[in-house]
Amino acid sequence: MTEEESFLRVATYVEDEIGFATSHYNDSYLKRRLSSRMRRTGAADYDEYFDILRDDTEEPGELLDALSINVTGFFRNPDVWEGIRSVLRDLSAEQDRVHVWSAACADGREPYSLAMLALDDPRVDAEKFHIYGTDINDEALRTAQRGVYRSTRTVDIEDQLGFLSNFHAYVDKHENQFTVTDRVKRHVTFAKHDLINDGAKSGFDLVICRNLFIYIDNEYKRPILETIARSLRPDGYLVIGKAETIPPQLKSAFSVLDGRLRIYQRE
Ligand SMILES: C[S@@+](CC[C@H](N)C(=O)[O-])C[C@H]1O[C@@H](n2cnc3c(N)ncnc32)[C@H](O)[C@@H]1O
Repeated sequence: MTEEESFLRVATYVEDEIGFATSHYNDSYLKRRLSSRMRRTGAADYDEYFDILRDDTEEPGELLDALSINVTGFFRNPDVWEGIRSVLRDLSAEQDRVHVWSAACADGREPYSLAMLALDDPRVDAEKFHIYGTDINDEALRTAQRGVYRSTRTVDIEDQLGFLSNFHAYVDKHENQFTVTDRVKRHVTFAKHDLINDGAKSGFDLVICRNLFIYIDNEYKRPILETIARSLRPDGYLVIGKAETIPPQLKSAFSVLDGRLRIYQRE
């Protein structure tokens, strides 16, 4: 078997036996995640790793964790959040109820950031806002529902929350542990949703879908964005990740509100 064939054998096994849709992700992303598990397990090549994956009871779970790309943060890319703040202000001024969808929300820090910002900004009426957070990953959704986050050696939650005027109004802090308060939680609901296989929603005023497309195979970007476009009301807003782009075939569905911050409006 060539190296490429061995890689495909592992990818197919992961898709068919472990239930993670490797065919939706780009190969360079999959290879990076697999190499990191191969280093950790001491596998010299894809064939050795295939045997470990098949024979070891723990490894399928470890690989799934590594593949579920759940890096996130409160107020990730603060400059983008200044753009989101203007959108929240406009929606608050224009409407009685505002429906926001944080699609692929990982462990909930993105939808909680939306709710905290709505509460924190004096020009936004948070009472009008409901935020819906969805992800494909059950473990991430469990963390989201609990709303408890910890600073670690590499993650400084207090620094992330520094975007707010006074974060103590939105989280209870005990040493390095931060618990989102009920005042914030009551604006947010979580549910499982697969952006590739599950249907569109409807009537959203704002959809935030950031840092998913960078991992996704080109072929699937378009159906995901079509799902999102159908879920937005006309003139509804879309925010994608700073390193992401709208595929050419879908450019006409959106007008650009801020190209640098990747904020768009549905035509
Ligand atoms: C890198 S995180 C981005 C989190 C957050 N949006 C942010 O920018 O900080 C990507 C998330 O996409 C989720 N995901 C991957 N494939 C998905 C799919 N098909 N449908 C919904 N979520 C998916 C992963 O579970 C992960 O939580």
